[in-house]
Amino acid sequence: MNVAVSIEQKDQFYILTINRPEALNALNKQVFDELDAFFTKEYNNFSIKGVIITGSGSKAFVAGADIKEFSHFGADEGANLSKRGQDIFFKIERFHAPVVAAVNGFALGGGCELAMACHIRVAGTNAKFGQPEVNLGLVPGYGGSQRLIQYLGKSKALEMLLTADMINAVEALDRGLVTHVVESGSEVDTALAICAKIATKGPIAIKQTIALVNAYFDKQVDGFEREYNDFGLTLGSDDATEGAMAFVEKRKPVFKAK
Ligand code: CAA
Repeated sequence: MNVAVSIEQKDQFYILTINRPEALNALNKQVFDELDAFFTKEYNNFSIKGVIITGSGSKAFVAGADIKEFSHFGADEGANLSKRGQDIFFKIERFHAPVVAAVNGFALGGGCELAMACHIRVAGTNAKFGQPEVNLGLVPGYGGSQRLIQYLGKSKALEMLLTADMINAVEALDRGLVTHVVESGSEVDTALAICAKIATKGPIAIKQTIALVNAYFDKQVDGFEREYNDFGLTLGSDDATEGAMAFVEKRKPVFKAK
């Protein structure tokens, strides 16, 4: 069987390419199984300093959930599919190292949701973002109704969700959905450069920073309480001792994720 997500290692970074160009990289069961397997296996692998997710070809990042696959599903199967997608995207959002979406074309429905579950988004000039589920008589299923509001605010999120209109890369940048717009074809290189910069920092601090930012959106967690606990945790780590010593000795720190 062909792989639906090809995995390439580059130094301490991994590039995951959704590899279904014939379906504009739509998310089917096989893509989910392979994404889930990667993020489950590597969840605590601190030798990984960054993961980039992109789509094969130059037309689409991911054009959504695979409509042909779920079209015959009933209510229970639909809810199960949605829960599965949400669980996998939480694993991405909670990954210890940065996960960067290199958005090289359409990011629609589940594709926009996948990009939003990543920590950072780099868009090519041809990128287009949208949640067109209402065109199909559906609501988003992989977190889009929640995360779009986090990035765009209620007004614009509601407009996009209700009209199914897409926004282009420049508007996504203006509205803070992406942080970089680059020439088409150089999305992955830009994402790698961002990961390389973050890889020089303390790995425990990076993990806890991601968790703290996620905590802001978690209604069960007091983010300020978590922050003072995590500040203590990082301050008590060997890496923080090394960071301070390196500062005093005017050299680059050598962090060991301890
Ligand atoms: N699922 C399955 N197949 C898809 C797909 C999807 N989401 N998107 C595109 N494809 C397939 C097309 O069926 C077509 O295959 P065939 O040649 O076998 O017919 C192939 O990819 C190329 O697509 P188009 O011919 O449609 O390409 P286009 O350039 O004319 O249009 C597009 C591009 C605007 C992205 C259009 O393909 C489109 O609207 N796709 C669907 C987008 C969408 O509705 N996404 C949301 C899905 S639902 C969802 O994601 C729910 C959720 O939140 C969980």
